[in-house]
Amino acid sequence: MSAQPATRPFEEIPLVPYRDEYAAERPRWIARLATTLGPVFRIDYSPEFRPVYLVGPEANRLVLYTDRDAFSHDLGWSPIIGADFGHGILNMDGEQHAHHRRIMNPAFTMAYMTRYLPLMNEVIRERTANWAGRGQVNLWEETRRITFDVAAGALTGQASGPGVDRLRELFVALMYGYYDPDVDTEESWLERHESALRELRGMLTELIRERRARPTDDLIGRLVSARDERGEPMSDEQLIAHLNILLIAGHETSTTMSAWLLYLLATHPECLARVHDELDRVLGDSDAAVTMDQIRALKVLGNALNEAGRLYPPVGAAPRGTTRDVEFAGYHIPAGTQVRYSIAGSHWLPSVFQDPERFDPDRFAPPREEDRKTPYAYVPFGGGARICLGVNFAQVEIKALAAYVLRRYSLEAAPDRPAEQLYWDILGSPERGLWVDVQARS
Ligand code: HEM
Repeated sequence: MSAQPATRPFEEIPLVPYRDEYAAERPRWIARLATTLGPVFRIDYSPEFRPVYLVGPEANRLVLYTDRDAFSHDLGWSPIIGADFGHGILNMDGEQHAHHRRIMNPAFTMAYMTRYLPLMNEVIRERTANWAGRGQVNLWEETRRITFDVAAGALTGQASGPGVDRLRELFVALMYGYYDPDVDTEESWLERHESALRELRGMLTELIRERRARPTDDLIGRLVSARDERGEPMSDEQLIAHLNILLIAGHETSTTMSAWLLYLLATHPECLARVHDELDRVLGDSDAAVTMDQIRALKVLGNALNEAGRLYPPVGAAPRGTTRDVEFAGYHIPAGTQVRYSIAGSHWLPSVFQDPERFDPDRFAPPREEDRKTPYAYVPFGGGARICLGVNFAQVEIKALAAYVLRRYSLEAAPDRPAEQLYWDILGSPERGLWVDVQARS
């Protein structure tokens, strides 16, 4: 009888040096590391920060399903979200999380999307009305205006306008307003940051005050009306934290995925032609706003959307902190370790996805169905009990947006404006923009 191989200690997990160039190379780089080193390695960002990367379907299954109790969202996400945005649904754990998620779930079922679709259609129509007149647009900027208006309207009942625009600007400033040593002193940056945070809190507190006085039957209404087992309502602090996370998660990722979907279709004419055939078949000649039944029937568009989310997942890796010792792929990972399950790396594994760097939506269609053949290989929305709360919301919104835009405009990638998805530790985005020339379709 051969002896079981001993589990190797944490220190023997391969340690890989990091260079900034990898931002643009990340999915390819992580997939290559997983192929050569195996599904566990550490990245050496700095001596203080060397998180463990877990890559591939088995790793995703471990974190999202079999051993999910060992992987804390709080220990993973809270250091990333920071003190600014508080303790919302994304960075809660255990029973507290389950309680809050139960309150929110009913507002995110597929059946509930029927309520949001008219608002989505309205915002999409208004926000794209002047595209042809402008000649060239940055899809990544335009889709943010749309997804933020939709999130603010659907989740908090605020109508598009200067107030919602200001809220969006504040979130962007807080998320992307990096310290710039050429213009900032440490004090000036801190002052700017603190003042944006104060303004944001003020706006959300006012919104909560209004909703407490006159509860609505949307998500914010559900949150202000909810009571815990002692009959107590949520505090303002808790409600602000939920709204922060919901408004960020509810638009940032959909912005990136919808912009990439449109850009990838603009640059893959054969696939675009098939999407157009399907739109003509399902929507006919009618100019009417798209319905839920039609959204469901748009399978070719759905596969293209899946493929955009495979190639450029907006959440490139999701953070966790271990709450107990874990063993995986022959290595010991002790309690208290910072871990990332790599969504982008998993999506680029050649062992799962044929020719992974190619935009090939048919990989999701029968008979190939590469995502279904290997469960947990395709995880743009995470998985298991902590799967993205807004997965239905995002898919309906992005399909409605693409259907509307593709029927009315022809898009062509702007020459001299290269498209590039940059990944840092967690999020990926086309930070330099996705620029297209726009013309009205006859
Ligand atoms: C294309 C768009 C989207 C993508 C790619 C995306 C991706 C993800 C991923 C990967 C997770 C899991 C993170 C983890 O495992 O740690 C997640 C969680 C979450 N997402 Fe999304 N998301 C999208 C849209 C949305 C929308 C539209 C909403 C809200 C309206 C939303 C709300 C949330 C929330 C609240 C969570 C935390 C759920 C929990 O921990 O219980 N997301 N999302």
